[in-house]
Amino acid sequence: MKQDNLIIALSKGRIYKETRPFLEAAGIIPVDDPETSRKLILDTNRDDVKLLILRATDVPTYVQYGAADLGVTGKDVLCEHGGEGLYELLDLGIARCRLMVAGRVGEPLPEARRVRVATKFVRSARDHFARKGQQVEVIKLYGSMELAPLVGLADCIVDVVDTGNTLKANGLAPLEHIADISSRIVVNKAAMKMKHERVTRLLEEMKKVVTERQQ
Ligand code: ATP
Ligand code: PRP
Repeated sequence: MKQDNLIIALSKGRIYKETRPFLEAAGIIPVDDPETSRKLILDTNRDDVKLLILRATDVPTYVQYGAADLGVTGKDVLCEHGGEGLYELLDLGIARCRLMVAGRVGEPLPEARRVRVATKFVRSARDHFARKGQQVEVIKLYGSMELAPLVGLADCIVDVVDTGNTLKANGLAPLEHIADISSRIVVNKAAMKMKHERVTRLLEEMKKVVTERQQ
């Protein structure tokens, strides 16, 4: 790939779909469709702009190391990553959900022993319970967290909740709110200097969409 390309990291599914209008507003139209193409580097109508299609949790890492100049990532993922090497510059207000503690309906958390929490958001879970002064055992999972309390792996989970349908379908209910989540534009610190003009122009166009949507 050419050195002077502008490289944008995204994940497919929800983030790609909801980011597309922001890219279009900035005059960037993908040539390939990540939902059907097997390509991981997507061409756009602009010769100097490429899209990388990654796992959602890997977006901050590619941006941190400069393999992508900027990316779109959920605040939940960003909190887990820690944000080293990147600037969080714009809240797109997309992929909105809430990071929550949830447990089995009608079953209070145990008080006589240490609560076991299953989650892929280990850092956020630790920070949340530490803030409350509660010592917990955090069990790292990579998905299907809702299963853990049902089979006795954990007393509760920390996961993102939108409609609450997934919790409900599994006999779980929200217990504590940790944070409101939306997706952010993150920019590599060196790219912010080296490609300043193109990055700021892109951000300005995207910001216009954010402002329009807020009105
Ligand atoms: P991975 O592929 O690494 O497992 P993922 O499955 O969480 O990641 P997505 O489901 O595409 O990836 O979610 C991307 C982002 O969208 C999340 O980081 C979160 O910020 C947000 N999100 C997740 N679930 C929902 C939801 N049900 N409604 C709205 N936003 C959501
Ligand atoms: C996310 C999350 C929850 C669900 C919450 O899963 O992991 O399971 O959404 O949304 P709800 O409150 O509207 O039910 P997603 O649909 O992204 O599936 P995945 O994590 O398996 O990709």
